[in-house]
Amino acid sequence: MSISQATIQEVQRSVHIEEVIADFLTLQKKGKNLWACCPFHHEKTPSFSVSPAKGFYKCFGCDAAGDAITFIREIEGISFVEAIKYLANKYGIDIQESEPHEQKIQQQHEKDSLYILLNLAKEYYVNTLWKHIEGQTVGLSYFRERHFSEHFIKKFELGYSLDAWEAFCRFAKHKGYKEALLEKAGLIIQNEHKKPYDRFRGRIIFPIHNVSGKVIAIGARILKTDSKQSKYINSPETAIYHKGSTLYGIFQAKHQIRQEDNCYLVEGYTDVIGLHMAGITNVVASSGTSLTEEQIQLISRFTKHITIVFDGDPAGIRASLRGVDMVLEKGLDVKIVSLPEGEDPDSYTRKVGAKAFQNYLQAQEQDFIRFKATLLLKSHQQDPIRKAGAIKEIIQSIAVVPDAVKRAVLTQQCSELLGIDEAVLNTEQSKLILQRKQEQLRRGERSFREHTTATPIVLNPSAEQTHKLDDSIKAYERESIRMLLNYGTVPIEGDKPLYTYLLQELEEVHFRTPEYREIMEHFQQQLAQGNVVNTTYFIQHQDENMKKTAIDLAASPYEVSDYWEEGHQIYTAKEEDDLHQAAFKNILRLKLRLIQQLIEDNRAGLQNAPEPEIEDQLLQVHTFLKQSEVRIAHQLGIVIW
Ligand code: CTP
Ligand code: MN
Repeated sequence: MSISQATIQEVQRSVHIEEVIADFLTLQKKGKNLWACCPFHHEKTPSFSVSPAKGFYKCFGCDAAGDAITFIREIEGISFVEAIKYLANKYGIDIQESEPHEQKIQQQHEKDSLYILLNLAKEYYVNTLWKHIEGQTVGLSYFRERHFSEHFIKKFELGYSLDAWEAFCRFAKHKGYKEALLEKAGLIIQNEHKKPYDRFRGRIIFPIHNVSGKVIAIGARILKTDSKQSKYINSPETAIYHKGSTLYGIFQAKHQIRQEDNCYLVEGYTDVIGLHMAGITNVVASSGTSLTEEQIQLISRFTKHITIVFDGDPAGIRASLRGVDMVLEKGLDVKIVSLPEGEDPDSYTRKVGAKAFQNYLQAQEQDFIRFKATLLLKSHQQDPIRKAGAIKEIIQSIAVVPDAVKRAVLTQQCSELLGIDEAVLNTEQSKLILQRKQEQLRRGERSFREHTTATPIVLNPSAEQTHKLDDSIKAYERESIRMLLNYGTVPIEGDKPLYTYLLQELEEVHFRTPEYREIMEHFQQQLAQGNVVNTTYFIQHQDENMKKTAIDLAASPYEVSDYWEEGHQIYTAKEEDDLHQAAFKNILRLKLRLIQQLIEDNRAGLQNAPEPEIEDQLLQVHTFLKQSEVRIAHQLGIVIW
């Protein structure tokens, strides 16, 4: 659904960020702001600040920042639209929809009807379990036999479907639902004579919730084990259910996953519930399929650490290794626990008890490299060729890890474990990484050429010098943007506002830092439409990147503490008095650094011992740049040798 701009604005006007956050955290007042331990990273002393006046939060520990909408998106792991709905609901605001295409409205209506219908189905199956005689005698006694306690049956909204052909179908039709919709929801099936019958019959019902808690599908387990029917029947793919991007239990687990900064991944519905009963609530299931990218993405909204709990059967483990590589590639950490042969998490926790199970998970946790190495080498120890193959496979897994430091640590571990020289492993690994880079380069080559036509000479400046220059260029770019957004409309010469001056002076300058360039470009676009935008505009913007940059510009640790707040105001007052001078100097400094960077590039070109012709050119460029440098430095009152 698209929500109208008016509703979004009303939500933005109505929310009080401190009230929204107080639903999740205990906030303490210190000075003008409120403080708490950050929910987005682990900490013992509060560095998460909330500014009621400015309407944003910022963590000085992990850099998380945003307004009330961002907070809800992040903490609940939901979309912008869902966050607006959440807040509209909290503040009793009516949601107006914007006017999308006819087709879109149709699709949205259908999705909404499916959500309502799935919710009805869930309630029906829950009622059947608790109220119907068959539910009580068959369904509930099955749960009792498996020692599922009442609390958890209710928490997961488990239910029972009668052993009858049309029980749910009749119920839903009686409520006014059309057969076509029931079929689209995957709840009924039509036989060859077009006669409808219930998909789920005589089974235990596991409703599958999405991340915000809506029921989107159903998994249904048979009760008797001797049956020829398949053990589980699940909803088919529908407009609201995509198996590959769903994780069973995510709704019930998400807050604990963030809290523990770790997510257990198991295979089945009953494993999730079993772990909950054993007191472990940060757990989700991939529901019997191999892990997909979307599922990893979903977990990574809440944590970057996954612990995969493997059932103790080797075939399953081998298949799951592919999933592990995918997790690594996304930059997440993977740990692995394997259970004794023939056990799954649910059966094992019942066997040994909650406490022993928790201890087992902690004691048996292995990092993936050790796990993979042991597993692969165990079977190939005697055969040198297959052993070499196994080693290669392990190196491949390490090579996909995006972070170089992590890679180095893993390589070192691998070397110790396999008894192979680290250097050898490194060489192999570099080859693989190089291969990938070259492929990427080949793909990006065209666009790369287009970008580099302006500077035909390949340059190689000293790394350290470049870093220093890069840092100060970034700082001056930041300062330019900060002035533009904070004081853009302040007149500096006669009636001329500061932004006109800044834009004129920066006309030739192409910002290096992507986030500042983005803000600058957006500012100009808005200006072309007659709007002069400011910090507040960007803080309320839907684009999370720009929002975050704007908050970073508006908040500094000095500003949030009381003491510094006063200090800052003194500074601000002064700054405004002398705005013209401050802007002028900042731009000169930026230009000076940009020229110095060109000089460095040029110098590096000269050091590469070019052809005499090119050397000549470079020397001319050098002289010109040096003259500009001296001129600007002079204006700034700096002496350059
Ligand atoms: N599964 C499925 N369809 C099947 C078998 C399994 O969708 N025919 C999925 C279910 O999500 C199931 C998971 O794979 O939860 C793991 O399957 P399995 O280990 O066989 O079942 P358990 O969850 O262990 O169920 P139980 O303990 O009740 O046997
Ligand atoms: Mn099981």
